[in-house]
Amino acid sequence: MTTIREMLTPEDQVWAEEVLNKFIAKMPEVTQRNFGKMPYTTGADGRYDDRSDMSRFSNYADGKSWWTNGFWGGLLWQMYVVTKDEQYLTAARRLEEDMDDCFHEYYGLHHDVGFMWMPTAVADYKITGNKESLKRGLLAANLLAGRFNPVGKFIRAWNSYWGDSNEGWAIIDCMMNISMLHFASKQIGDPRYQEIAMLHADTVIQNFIRENGSSVHICEFDAKTGKKVGERGGQGYKEGSAWTRGQAWALYGFYISYANTGEQRYLDTSCKVADYFASCMENRDYVPIDFDQPAEPAYEDSCGAVIAACGFLELAKVMEEQGSKEKAQLYLSTGLKILKNIEKNRTIWDQSCDAVVQNCSASYHDKDHHFTMVYADYYFLEAICKLNDTGFFTWGV
Ligand code: GLY
Repeated sequence: MTTIREMLTPEDQVWAEEVLNKFIAKMPEVTQRNFGKMPYTTGADGRYDDRSDMSRFSNYADGKSWWTNGFWGGLLWQMYVVTKDEQYLTAARRLEEDMDDCFHEYYGLHHDVGFMWMPTAVADYKITGNKESLKRGLLAANLLAGRFNPVGKFIRAWNSYWGDSNEGWAIIDCMMNISMLHFASKQIGDPRYQEIAMLHADTVIQNFIRENGSSVHICEFDAKTGKKVGERGGQGYKEGSAWTRGQAWALYGFYISYANTGEQRYLDTSCKVADYFASCMENRDYVPIDFDQPAEPAYEDSCGAVIAACGFLELAKVMEEQGSKEKAQLYLSTGLKILKNIEKNRTIWDQSCDAVVQNCSASYHDKDHHFTMVYADYYFLEAICKLNDTGFFTWGV
């Protein structure tokens, strides 16, 4: 069995170790400073905000149940596995326990329960065997399975927050959340969860993945008949365009479906999206918000970049193992190019900013661009751990 580290040149191995050491140097102070918080982004003072502070939000979906709240836990658990420093375990447990309020509130919850509880409770269970954490993971999996539309064979995205009728919406991002369903089936030996995950993934192959390997952000189905009635550009530039973080969710998400099931069609789909992504990166150093956006303004999304890099590294390993040397090299070099450019010019390693990765963007048409997002730091660390053959695979059974 090949490891990702074994595929690197000695120079790249040294580079990867140096970057991991930068995390090891930075994170103790950041962890102490933010103990008890649910960070999403940093303010002008460089300090993380706190989504657990419900005095700032009118609803749980934007506050304690904000979909990225689990990634801070994921960062802490990766750091715990790398360093064995108990402060990371203590801080991660505090977050996991604080997130129990979200189950009780219920109305703030959505399709992103995988993002919330895979890097927190499920990570805790996998790393420490904590039985309370397993219960949380299984509860979250049941909430996700409950969103399945059996006629359309998709997992419904979001809730009707905006007063519109979106019962029939499904989104590419959910390819990551379904790892939670694979986990539940494996844990309790009940295939239903995995069946839902695979039915959803197959719907995505049929309806979201375009001929050129790019993917749609939102597909709209008739919730009663299951018939596809439209597509939306969502967080990308426009309808029909290629929102880069969506491409990254597809690339990495289909790899994860392959890792959890061994089904060739998921690997093929991941490679198809990866080939498209790699071709778009040939003449670029940084990942834009959308591969079809105009050249100016030159908006970037470092977050989509590091998520895609995680997928490229895993695919490189699989291709190497299967003897597809050329593909392995393409995926490895694209992943490394992305990570090296981010590290060189889009990171802050001193304590002036709690976050590491800069220039992230949530959505093309938002007012604000180029800020920090905690999940960019999470996926950047996950990628650096992969390069060092350390950390843990959050999204696997
Ligand atoms: N899951 C939504 C996003 O990637 O922004």
